[in-house]
Amino acid sequence: MSYKIGLVLDEPKIEMSTDESRSADEQKRITANKIYEVLSKKYEVVNIVADVKIIENLKNSNIDIVFNLSTGVRGESRQSQIPAILEMLGIPYVGSGILAHAMALDKTVAKQIFKYHDVLTPNFQIFHDENEKLNPELKFPLIIKPACEGSGFGIHGDSVVYEEEAVRKKVSKLLKQYQPPILAEEFIEGREFTVGIIGNGKDKTVLPILEIDFKDIPEEYGKFYSFEVKANFGHKTNYYCPAPISNKLEEQIKAMASKAFDALGCRDLARVDVRVRDDVPYILEINSLPGLKPVYSDLTKMAEAAGISYDELIIKILEEAIKRIGKVRRVNS
Ligand SMILES: Nc1ncnc2c1ncn2[C@@H]1O[C@H](COP(=O)(O)OP(=O)(O)OP(=O)(O)O)[C@@H](O)[C@H]1O
Ligand SMILES: [Mg+2]
Repeated sequence: MSYKIGLVLDEPKIEMSTDESRSADEQKRITANKIYEVLSKKYEVVNIVADVKIIENLKNSNIDIVFNLSTGVRGESRQSQIPAILEMLGIPYVGSGILAHAMALDKTVAKQIFKYHDVLTPNFQIFHDENEKLNPELKFPLIIKPACEGSGFGIHGDSVVYEEEAVRKKVSKLLKQYQPPILAEEFIEGREFTVGIIGNGKDKTVLPILEIDFKDIPEEYGKFYSFEVKANFGHKTNYYCPAPISNKLEEQIKAMASKAFDALGCRDLARVDVRVRDDVPYILEINSLPGLKPVYSDLTKMAEAAGISYDELIIKILEEAIKRIGKVRRVNS
């Protein structure tokens, strides 16, 4: 069946241009160009920019289904903005819905939902103000990070702290740069993994687990996935996929990641970040709109380890969404 696909993408964020945002814009542009190319081999595809004119543009383009790459325009629930508009217009779309994106973007909400569903996640405290009393039950070291960011924004070599005064200083600094709240979370010292999930329900494909090893990263950037490590130390980061772990640990990590995906009600694709301490997997967060850059993005690396080419990965994500939606219908018919 031939569909007309709307590829919804973000505009570069010129008004808040920082090193972090420029790098993210560049990744998005490369990804969108490649996905356009892949989808165009099989379907009619139109690019649609996620801006204030999007409702008219969607209505005029006679699209059957949207492949959503937009992280939204601004605000605390930005990842939900395009899904909300598509739901309002009755246009089916690939990927998670309004609620799952909003919960996944706010790590504090996601963690509370995880706890309810017995998905293990590091103990944490939420700060709206640096003078709030630190919960004495939290065990140092702690990592201090913005609650509603991604791509390593706000996570740097000095994000891991060892005493209370440093918590206050770091919370105060992040509150000046990022919207509240700020999250103080027990730092799980151990191996790091990320898990890619494609599909839905019992049909989910859990891709081979990717281990990220920071042993060659200079100490000042942190032995974790800080912004600097993500942006500048790809060449010194070791990626192992499939991760060299026992079958038992592999099953435990996959089961916990899949449970976390279902707990938030994610759809079609997501990437779940995990740290393991004493053979116990802790879920750090879910990326409900994971990067899909060829070669570079984790999901792409995992697919490759499973023998799935980039083109096949994109088509599989689309087909899983179509299977979930059932009948794709034209908005104007
Ligand atoms: N509680 C924790 N224990 C150990 N390491 C952590 C913890 N929280 C975050 N980290 C480290 O910081 C990195 C980034 O954290 P997190 O995944 O929360 O941020 P992000 O910016 O949303 O990431 P992404 O790029 O995946 O969107 C993690 O991959 C991990 O290396
Ligand atoms: Mg992460």
